[in-house]
Amino acid sequence: MSSINQAPPPKRSLWDYHAIFEKNSIILVLGILIAISIGGLVQIVPLFFLKSTIEKVDGVRPKTPLELAGADIYVREGCYLCHSQMVRALRDEVERYGHYSVAAESMYDHPFQWGSKRSGPDLARVGGKYSDDWHRDHLRNPQAVVPASIMPHYAFLEQTPLDAKHITANMRTLRLTGVPYTDDMIAKAADDIAAQATADAPGFADLEKRYPKAVAHDFGADKRPPTEADAVIAYLQMLGTMVDFKTYDDKANIR
Ligand code: HEC
Repeated sequence: MSSINQAPPPKRSLWDYHAIFEKNSIILVLGILIAISIGGLVQIVPLFFLKSTIEKVDGVRPKTPLELAGADIYVREGCYLCHSQMVRALRDEVERYGHYSVAAESMYDHPFQWGSKRSGPDLARVGGKYSDDWHRDHLRNPQAVVPASIMPHYAFLEQTPLDAKHITANMRTLRLTGVPYTDDMIAKAADDIAAQATADAPGFADLEKRYPKAVAHDFGADKRPPTEADAVIAYLQMLGTMVDFKTYDDKANIR
């Protein structure tokens, strides 16, 4: 008769609507998709409004023709299957290899060589760590230098003359992808290969203007044609040497 004693219906809170998702798998899937899309957009959309997602860093230059030829041999031989080229911002890596890698350092690498496996050490900062002769001995027979090494022998590289007939085409193609090779660099590619592989080459000062901080090598290219090993060594000796990290604050990003 009287409805006075009846309890009022419980108030529904927002959380009660969650039951709709919990009880209907299709709605749950749709809900998940919407939530993930929002997260994805929040991450991706700002990148479209930045001029560049790669921070500009002083010193990064395109590879010299000899280094570029070496990089291609590195890829051909699958060195990336055992070696990474990316020092992560983790304390143990930074103490072992040096400053963590920054994106700009590999902005002219096509394909980039970050790698995903480390049967051998990271090579991002190997440039200047050893002498050219050390690298030559090591490539010829790694166990002669590091007895416990499992690295394969690459002795044939020093017996194979460098075939650089595609180097200008390669540079032109890289230019299409954004590597700033100039007409001058492309025209002088063959000379630059010889100049970088010969001690005290007269053309080296000219090369250095095009490629600041390039390293001159005493491979004896005046006496014999440059070999594939010369190119790989020139490439290895360049790795990690372009950026002067003394001017950067190390500690901020290391975990
Ligand atoms: C099967 C795996 C494997 C492959 C493939 C391989 N390496 Fe290695 N590499 C190693 C291992 C393991 C070491 C550490 C022992 C040593 O120094 O030999 C090493 C060491 C090195 C080092 C010395 C690094 C340092 O900081 O001491 C260089 C330079 C190097 N490799 C270059 C190359 C190049 C160039 C190629 C391709 C032509 C290559 N490696 C292919 C396994 C490999």
